[in-house]
Amino acid sequence: MNKKAVHIKFYGGENIPLELHKVRVVQKLNLVPVERRLEALYESGFNTFRLTTNDVFLDMLTDSGTNAMSDMQLSAMMHADDAYAGSQSFFRLQKAVEDVLRKKYFLPVHQGRAAENIIANAYIRKKGDLIPMNYHFTTALAHITQYGGRIVELLYDEAYNISSCHPFKGNMNIEKLEAVIKETGKENIPFIRMEASTNLIGGQPFSVQNLREVRGIADRYGLRIVLDASLLGENAYLVIQREPEFADASMADVISTITGLCDIIYFSARKLSSSRGGGICTNELTIYRELEAFIPLFEGFLTYGGISVREIEAMAVGLYETLDETMICQSPQYIAYLVNALTAKDIPMVTPPGVLGAHADAKRICEHIPQSQYQAGALATAFYLISGVRGMERGSISNQRDENGNETYADMELLRLAVPRRVFTLSQVKYVEDRMIWLYENRLLIGGLKFVYEPPVLRFFMGGLEPVSDWAEKLMAKFKEDFGNSL
Ligand SMILES: Cc1ncc(COP(=O)(O)O)c(C=O)c1O
Repeated sequence: MNKKAVHIKFYGGENIPLELHKVRVVQKLNLVPVERRLEALYESGFNTFRLTTNDVFLDMLTDSGTNAMSDMQLSAMMHADDAYAGSQSFFRLQKAVEDVLRKKYFLPVHQGRAAENIIANAYIRKKGDLIPMNYHFTTALAHITQYGGRIVELLYDEAYNISSCHPFKGNMNIEKLEAVIKETGKENIPFIRMEASTNLIGGQPFSVQNLREVRGIADRYGLRIVLDASLLGENAYLVIQREPEFADASMADVISTITGLCDIIYFSARKLSSSRGGGICTNELTIYRELEAFIPLFEGFLTYGGISVREIEAMAVGLYETLDETMICQSPQYIAYLVNALTAKDIPMVTPPGVLGAHADAKRICEHIPQSQYQAGALATAFYLISGVRGMERGSISNQRDENGNETYADMELLRLAVPRRVFTLSQVKYVEDRMIWLYENRLLIGGLKFVYEPPVLRFFMGGLEPVSDWAEKLMAKFKEDFGNSL
C-alpha cells in the first residue's frame, strides 16, 4: 500500500489528521440532556459498561466490534457459504490468515477470549505454572488464573512512567525475563505471552528488535512464544513510525516479521480485522493437534468456530485490509491529535500517544480521591455525565482480587477514550477535547465510588457502584451553570 499517502501536509502548517476514506453509511446519534445522563448513571450502577447506547453520544468504550467496516467487507458478507462443515467461506479465511499472518494452520473461535480459554486450558498443566508476559489483559489473566496459572509482568520501568517519550513502552524486559526463567525453571513455564500494543498501559507497542530478543531467550530455554495479535495492525503501524529499521517497510513486511517470531498467534477479530470472531494460528502441526479438539468442544465445528459465515467473510477481507496503512492510521492519528491537544493544556495523558484510545491519567487528575475509591471509575462516570461520551475505566476496578480476596490496586488508573477505526469525525474529537478541558478545570468536584454489587469474575463488566457523596449532583449543577441550555 502507498505509505506516503498517510503523511499529507497542510499548506497552513497545521497538523491535521486527514481522513482517507469517505462516509457512505451513517447512524444518527443522540445527545441526551445532562439530567438524563445523571439518571442513566444511577440506573447503570455508575458503570459505563451498563449504559445503554440510547443514552450515549460518542461511544468510546472500546474498539472491540465497533471499528467501521469497509464496503469490501460488507459486500463480501453477501457471498458467504452457509454450511456446518467445509464452508468455502472458511477456506477463504484460512487463506487470508496464511497470506497476512503467514501461518498455515488456523482454528476459528468466536472471539479473542475464547482463544485465551483454549490456550490456557491446553497448556497450563499444574497449579502455579507461570506465564511471563509484557503485560496482562483482563480476559487473558482471568483464563490463566482460572486454570491454576500465575502471571508475571515484565515491562521496563519506563513503561510505568505515564508521561514519557519512550517509543516502545510495551517492550518485554529481557534481563528480567531470563532471570524469571532461571528462577522458576522452564518446566514450570508453559509459554511466554507477548501482547501487541499492550492494552492496559495505554495501547503501547513493542519493537521488532525487542521481540527478536525475546525469541532469542525463548529459543535458549526451549519455550514457545504466544502472541496476542488483537492490536497487531496498530503495533505494526507504530513500528513503521518509530523503529528506524522499518521506516520504509510495508505493513505486510512488519506484520510477517512479527508473526514469524512467534509460535502461536491468537486474536480478537473484533479488533484485528474490524469484524467479529477470533482465531488461533500456527505453523506447527503438533500445536495444531494439541488445540484442535477444543474447538468442537467449546466453539463449534472446525470450519466455523462459533462465527457466522458472513462474519467469516468480513474477517477474511478485514485481515487483508490490515495491510493497508491508510486504513490503520486514522485511529492512531486521531488519538495523537487528542492527546497532544490535551497535554498542551497540561492535562495528564499517557504519552507517547498509543493506539486504541487516548488515555487520561486519573491518578493525577483525581489525586484528591483515594485509590480505594476508584479514581479511574470516578473519572469515567464524571466524563460521561458532562459530555455523554462513554469511556472505559482501566484501573483498579478492572483488576481482580488476589487469591485471598484482597483488593489489588492497578499500576495505572486510566480513563480510556477509545477511538475505533474510521468511526468518528474530527469535530467529534474536538468536542471530547473541549469537554475534557472543562472537566479538568472542575476536577475537584469529582468524588469517589464504592461497590454495591461485585461479581466474582471480571467484575468491571457488570459490577454496580455508587458515588460516596452527592458529588455527581454538584458536578451537574456546575455544568448547567457554565453551559446554560447547551446539551
Ligand atoms: C489485547 C486484547 N486481547 C484479547 C482481547 C479479548 O478479545 P474479545 O473481546 O474478542 O474476547 C481483547 C479485547 O478487548 C484485547 O484488547
